[in-house]
Amino acid sequence: MAEKKNIVTIDGPSGAGKSTISKLLAARLRYTYLDTGAMYRMVGLQVLRDGLDFEVQGAREKLALLLAALDMTLAPGEEGKETRAFLNGEDVSDAIRTPEMAMVASRVSAQAEVRKKLTEMQRTIGNNGAIVAEGRDMGTVVFPDAMHKFFLDASPMERAKRRQKQLAENGRKIEYQELLTQIQKRDADDSNRALAPLKPAEDAVIVDSSEMSIEEVVSFMLAAINDKQK
Ligand code: DC
Repeated sequence: MAEKKNIVTIDGPSGAGKSTISKLLAARLRYTYLDTGAMYRMVGLQVLRDGLDFEVQGAREKLALLLAALDMTLAPGEEGKETRAFLNGEDVSDAIRTPEMAMVASRVSAQAEVRKKLTEMQRTIGNNGAIVAEGRDMGTVVFPDAMHKFFLDASPMERAKRRQKQLAENGRKIEYQELLTQIQKRDADDSNRALAPLKPAEDAVIVDSSEMSIEEVVSFMLAAINDKQK
């Protein structure tokens, strides 16, 4: 069996608390935090800006060019803030984190060429270990040899509630029902796609955070990590 790498993977559906938990866990472990959703969102933004339509003839070639020219940088956010995301040097951190961009990112993420490119980039970042990688396919596809794998889940209702609160904090008021519908659609799309679908790795620890506080989840994960390292 391949040697396990000093990598923590946190996969799960949107709104389960992955970002908050991954950031805290990375800080406690003094590991690098990798927000792979931000990478898919940046590709989505570039696709939108280029007006690329996947249904149209010649889209494959255009997408290949777009991916070859992709200039993405991630930088740690300030305390308690999301990762800063730069596309061609422009700070797009806010632009990529809208519900609309989440849907575009989900669509873009079903494209094989996009997944191939981002998987390569993510493996390069994780090459030296000491990383908490958050996404949908971290434990299953990108880092199958990760030492610690978690699948963080929560009920769709709880996730819609949390997302509504988070958006309100950023000054956006969106109806609960609309968010619930979006979350359910995105879950279905992410779980049913042919490539790297959202699902727990066989060796992942499944954590349902519906009834757990952030601190409880982080403590649980830290204990599981320490246990394995003994
Ligand atoms: O985690 P997020 O909401 O920022 O992710 C946005 C979209 O990107 C999500 O709907 C699916 C896709 N994604 C993916 O397919 N694989 C990842 N590792 C991370 C995100």
